[in-house]
Amino acid sequence: MSFRNAPLAVTHSCDKSAIFTSEIRAAIDALIAKYPTDWKQSAVMPTLTLVQDANDGWLTTELMNAVAAYLDMPEVSVYEVATFYGMYDLEPQGKHKVCICNSVSCLLRGSDTLLHHVESKYNVHPNEITADGRFTLKEVECLGACCGAPAVMIDKQYYENLSPGSLDKLIDGLE
Ligand code: FES
Repeated sequence: MSFRNAPLAVTHSCDKSAIFTSEIRAAIDALIAKYPTDWKQSAVMPTLTLVQDANDGWLTTELMNAVAAYLDMPEVSVYEVATFYGMYDLEPQGKHKVCICNSVSCLLRGSDTLLHHVESKYNVHPNEITADGRFTLKEVECLGACCGAPAVMIDKQYYENLSPGSLDKLIDGLE
């Protein structure tokens, strides 16, 4: 189920998690149900992913606080997770995320060439959004797809053994 662009309710309630729509709450509840009753905090990563997807691909402080309230955990613990892992973004993003792996296997197989190609062709640098808003370019640590180096993740889809030309086709196919 995709929640991209699902509306998040605006509220003035003192319950910080009231910002979530009933649809989002139900989805979070389903995540919590996967863990033992007293361990709802274990759902923090998939919950952040879900909420990020519902907010055009990024997390605000208000949303992170709402996740903390919903999972009964300290706000700072949610910030720690959201700032440690590269898949969470704390600033507005392009419509898509193009993530080029910069770790050793991919580097040895030409990921730096891919990065420089995208930078020059699309006039964008890591952590920037293209002028047309189509994508954010990200340079990321090992994607766990080393046997298919160089690997790139576009949104949540992996692509392997890429050349500048094959990456161009993928990017040009983005809406
Ligand atoms: S080094 Fe790139 S996927 Fe592992």
